[in-house]
Amino acid sequence: IDYGTPASRSEKTVSLTIDGQSIAVPAGTSVMRAAAELGTSIPKLCATDRVDAFGSCRLCLVEVDGMRGTPASCTTLVAEGMVVRTQTERLKKLRKGVMELYISDHPLDCLTCAANGDCELQTQAGAVGLREVRYGEGANHVFARRAGEENDRFLPKDESNPYFTYDPAKCIVCSRCVRACEEVQGTFALTIEGRGFDSRVSPGMHESFLGSECVSCGACVDACPTATLTEKSVIEIGQPEHSVVTTCAYCGVGCSFKAE
Ligand code: FES
Repeated sequence: IDYGTPASRSEKTVSLTIDGQSIAVPAGTSVMRAAAELGTSIPKLCATDRVDAFGSCRLCLVEVDGMRGTPASCTTLVAEGMVVRTQTERLKKLRKGVMELYISDHPLDCLTCAANGDCELQTQAGAVGLREVRYGEGANHVFARRAGEENDRFLPKDESNPYFTYDPAKCIVCSRCVRACEEVQGTFALTIEGRGFDSRVSPGMHESFLGSECVSCGACVDACPTATLTEKSVIEIGQPEHSVVTTCAYCGVGCSFKAE
């Protein structure tokens, strides 16, 4: 189970109520993690318990008594006496609207995608109940690919790294790869550049992953929720039925790999 944010090590305990259920968790715990410990899964894309919360996808919105608006549960920390609601009709509508925008800027080639069945965007679209999209259903990307066009929104794949492929068309700019590179591997090879539709992950000042500071550790591939960063072995032979993940922070030759 992925609780959404790393566990707090505080010895102080905080009590709160989530959807009418009481829970006591260590101070410094996120609302998202506290809800997960109660068995409530709040939709998320940018949060994972492997890296610190960033709050970029805005899918994990909740309502908190006394707080204005709908804060992101991954970056909101628990407080004594806090009262949280995670499943109101208003929240469901907001999350569906956010997901609709993501899908409108994403290729809809799921059936032939390497991540099909193992894609968090696909899973969360189902979780928020998205059945139709009003904004073109990723038509811009699909059309550009078929036409062989290249523009700022549809950059070509980067196949330079021998272990993985980077496909910017499938990037949802959640920055999980950037944070994994920094926090898991301790390398600062990746960044987010551009704004709005033009924003994307990039290997810094370098033109390709191979020519960058990337040490091919695989932390970014492991953190990616879509098929943006995909192991070449997965693209060639499909998803394994069983996988084993190993991570070594000291080796720069592809220490995170999956094998049947
Ligand atoms: Fe909280 Fe993305 S999961 S903002």
